[in-house]
Amino acid sequence: MPDAPAPPLTVAGVEVPADFDRWHPADILAFAVEHFSPEIAISFSGAEDVVLIDFASKLDLPYRIITLDTGRLHPETYQFIERVRDHYQADIEVFFPQPEAVQKLVREKGLFSFYLDGHEECCSVRKVEPVRRAMAGMRATVSGQRQDQSPATRGILPVVQEDPALTVGGAPVVKFNPLSFWSSQQVWQHILSHEVPYNPLHDRGFRSIGCEPCTKPTNAGQHEREGRWWWEEATKRECGLHLPVVEAE
Ligand code: ADX
Ligand code: SF4
Repeated sequence: MPDAPAPPLTVAGVEVPADFDRWHPADILAFAVEHFSPEIAISFSGAEDVVLIDFASKLDLPYRIITLDTGRLHPETYQFIERVRDHYQADIEVFFPQPEAVQKLVREKGLFSFYLDGHEECCSVRKVEPVRRAMAGMRATVSGQRQDQSPATRGILPVVQEDPALTVGGAPVVKFNPLSFWSSQQVWQHILSHEVPYNPLHDRGFRSIGCEPCTKPTNAGQHEREGRWWWEEATKRECGLHLPVVEAE
């Protein structure tokens, strides 16, 4: 007897179409917003994930856009976030770390402790705790992660998943990764052909953009992730936003 067909995948009670991972990213985002509006937030880093905002700008339902100001971004990234806000007339909500936590870290370990004992502690203060606050009351999030960004850590990234890194009220937040199967080239094709504004650092060799002290340009022979936390092993080059598990309020 042939095997029974696999039951449909559901997330938070929503049935996911069987061919979902072959949908265009704009349609994946539209599906996400349609099912989770208004309790859905696009997490915008100030890099090429701006394509998500471009897709979302065509939707009529309400959604949030959040960005985490770690205090260590490049000046170009701050200017770019403002440019995106103006261009799309978008309400981009900026979240900051807890001042006491940053002060304690810097007082005890200085401003560059991540070069000495790893980036986890600083990322935890400047990114992971703020996203937990930002996501309070939300049911779903949208990230710009792609499989091709990091074979070591994102090689099997699904288009939709229960967020391995975030729960709200004990329930996992549903995380959409609409760009998961898109290549860097497809993202850039969309940006250029639709005249989407982009971070000028990309024209200076930065293919992946995070905080200024932890990001450097890469050359053609390198993988883009080699420009992030380059002093650490490839399997550790994640800031914690996408790793297990924090509880939001
Ligand atoms: S990460 O390791 O810094 O998380 P990356 O820069 O590749 O990785 O970003 C992947 C996705 O994480 C972004 O598309 C975005 O959804 C989210 N993200 C990363 N940094 C931020 C930030 N500062 N603010 C909001 N979202 C972010
Ligand atoms: Fe701190 Fe670097 Fe992480 Fe930014 S990327 S929060 S500066 S360790």
